[in-house]
Amino acid sequence: MKVLSPFFSVALTQSTLCAAQGYTNESEVPYYGLSPPVYPSPVGNGTTSNAWKNAYQHAKAIVSKLTLEEKVNVTGGFDGACVGNSGAVPRLSIPSLCFQDAPDGVRGQEFVSAFPASIHVAATWDRSLMYQYGNALGEEYHDKGIHVALGPVAGPLGRIARGGRNWEGLSADPYLAGAGMGAITRGIQDAGVIASAKHWLLNEEEWRRNPGNLGESESSNADDRTIHELYAFPFMDSLRDGVGSVLCSYQRVNNSYACQNSKLLNGILKTELGFEGFVVSDWEGQHAGVASANAGLDIVMPDQGFWGNKLTEAVNNGSVSTDRINDMATRILSSWYYLDQNKGYPSNGVYANDKKHDPVDVQGDHASLIREIGAAGIVLVKNTNNALPFTNSTRFLSVYGYDATLPPSPWNNPSRYGGGYEVNFGWNTFNGTLVTGGGSGGSTPPYVVSPIQAIQERISRDRGTLRWDFWSENPTPAYVNSDACLVFINAYASESFDRETLQDEFSDNLVKNVASNCTNTIVVIHSAGIRTVDTWINNPNITAVLFAGLPGQESGHSLTDVLYGEIAPSGRLPYTIAKNESDYGRLLNSTISFDAFPQVNFTEGLYIDYRYFDKEEIEPRFEFGFGLTYSTFGYAGLRVTANNGSSSTAELPDPDIAIVQGGHPQLWDELYTVTASITNTGNVTASEIPQLYVSIPNAPVRQLRGFEKVPLKAGQTKSVRFPLTRRDLSIWDVEVQQWRLQRAEYGIFVGASSRDLRLKGSVRIQ
Ligand code: BGC
Repeated sequence: MKVLSPFFSVALTQSTLCAAQGYTNESEVPYYGLSPPVYPSPVGNGTTSNAWKNAYQHAKAIVSKLTLEEKVNVTGGFDGACVGNSGAVPRLSIPSLCFQDAPDGVRGQEFVSAFPASIHVAATWDRSLMYQYGNALGEEYHDKGIHVALGPVAGPLGRIARGGRNWEGLSADPYLAGAGMGAITRGIQDAGVIASAKHWLLNEEEWRRNPGNLGESESSNADDRTIHELYAFPFMDSLRDGVGSVLCSYQRVNNSYACQNSKLLNGILKTELGFEGFVVSDWEGQHAGVASANAGLDIVMPDQGFWGNKLTEAVNNGSVSTDRINDMATRILSSWYYLDQNKGYPSNGVYANDKKHDPVDVQGDHASLIREIGAAGIVLVKNTNNALPFTNSTRFLSVYGYDATLPPSPWNNPSRYGGGYEVNFGWNTFNGTLVTGGGSGGSTPPYVVSPIQAIQERISRDRGTLRWDFWSENPTPAYVNSDACLVFINAYASESFDRETLQDEFSDNLVKNVASNCTNTIVVIHSAGIRTVDTWINNPNITAVLFAGLPGQESGHSLTDVLYGEIAPSGRLPYTIAKNESDYGRLLNSTISFDAFPQVNFTEGLYIDYRYFDKEEIEPRFEFGFGLTYSTFGYAGLRVTANNGSSSTAELPDPDIAIVQGGHPQLWDELYTVTASITNTGNVTASEIPQLYVSIPNAPVRQLRGFEKVPLKAGQTKSVRFPLTRRDLSIWDVEVQQWRLQRAEYGIFVGASSRDLRLKGSVRIQ
């Protein structure tokens, strides 16, 4: 038997590794789940672009003037108004940088907007809205004087259906998540704010994400190929679009804590992906001083953790090199220069809200964008008997369920760090309408337009009639003259906990009870991710069902825009909804372990969400990419063309070309173009979201590699173009440690969802 060095273990796929070793099962491989050491930490020097080069010149110049104590000072956190506050150097006008949550709005402050959660933005499949979202968020961070926004999120990706934080991220598909990561990063940074892509990496469950009484944190064990093709993939887009900071996650990766994991930080992030900015620890996510510094961590939060004076000592005694401490400070200040924050920045407008102060109003006109994204992210999954949209004669509505109205009061929770209170609307299921999730990723709405408020506005305008019952499980009586009965339910999720269920009895009973009395029952679900619906979805009295996501402060307006057909729905599911929870198999739950060193083996490899359902041939209730609208579309004219005029191209990127931030620049070369034409064959204006799936040989059955939102008037046809980059078509070759094109035939599919494939073709790469 060939004996492999442990350092090689993650460079091989599990199956290769097993086979090579004569094992049948990954868990038998003695060094499965070990992380190879990668040292020393690469010194950043700003080679990606002129902007980075300039930033580095300034940063290096100022760092050369700093004493060791001052350098150490900028690498740690201090008490202050924000959730994180770095050390300042007043004599050189280096300010304390303010770090603040959350990915869907400034957390814990007044006069800030509550945007839809990221998963809702992903459900729009709209690249332009993704950018506008990031940019509007960025403006609010900027105007509050926040230097570093703690988002966007692509970890968790959504490996497990019940993951508590899946809603903070974009999608269980790395390509869709990557499109959002890139666009949101650009949006935030175009407003002058440093984005912090998080949580790097494999933070896929909340159960034992941190060490505690039971022992160490869980270790997410994944093979090298899975790390690259699935989990690191969406971060590449953020890096490519210039992200200035990356936040390392809490748990262990292949048994080494993510914030001191040299393979992840020195290796993948700073070498392979050429990261120029700084790595910040998750809050209290640092577990060793010298080890984290040498593994590539640049700044620790929320305090000085294992650094401070100890880091000074470590540099003085040579355990951490002078090059490393210089690099840490240079990277932090380079990002600050890169975003031109040195050229004047609003003063800190983050306050503790228990003290009287004058809050800075940063909302701008973002409410209209929030309303638009709120509507664009609603996914219509059932619509029979022309139940929707409502018509002019729909003037009598009955409204049921706790999720239709505001909770009795917003919960005010003093936040754990810095100034502010978290204000949660719908803190848990049954308590009121859900517009965001819980924990540090929850937004802080200035107000919430509930569904009932928006419906009232409309009914009063139409001089109609409204009846309601928010709190009963079995509401009586049924109002026989109602045109429709709307039932509102939700499914909540929060940081710190994984979900216990994807459905609940009270809500399911409520839906069934209303449907038993009303032949035109329309169900609206506000959910922080997947919500199974099979106990009632086929009930003929349930005529329409909408997944209305986590829409933010304009919730009710976004919904009525769709119900009344002001806007035809265009949201598509960013995840798979199974018929039964058990259909997710081992991808349903967190791995509950009481071991001192719990191991979570990602042995499913690349096969999560629809990749898993396709492989196992499990029929989902609603597949990834699915969503209905008020019109119908025809697909025609699939063409695949090689952009250089020939289908011959090198298998590997040119090794003589230098890496820039985001990875090898040739990974982004557009090698092929797929085109198709889409026609609106119905009677109303609506948007279609054609999706491009590619069957990459030796990989999942089909993988999303393109999408576009196409607004079309009735009868109109448009041509849609999907570029295919080298990365889109490559697999990660674990032996060569590079992205590789395969000389083989690739299947090309364009369709309306991951299973509704309307056009089929192929391309052979030679
Ligand atoms: C979360 C991060 C968050 C940080 C600061 C941590 O518990 O994991 O996502 O940015 O707290 O609030």
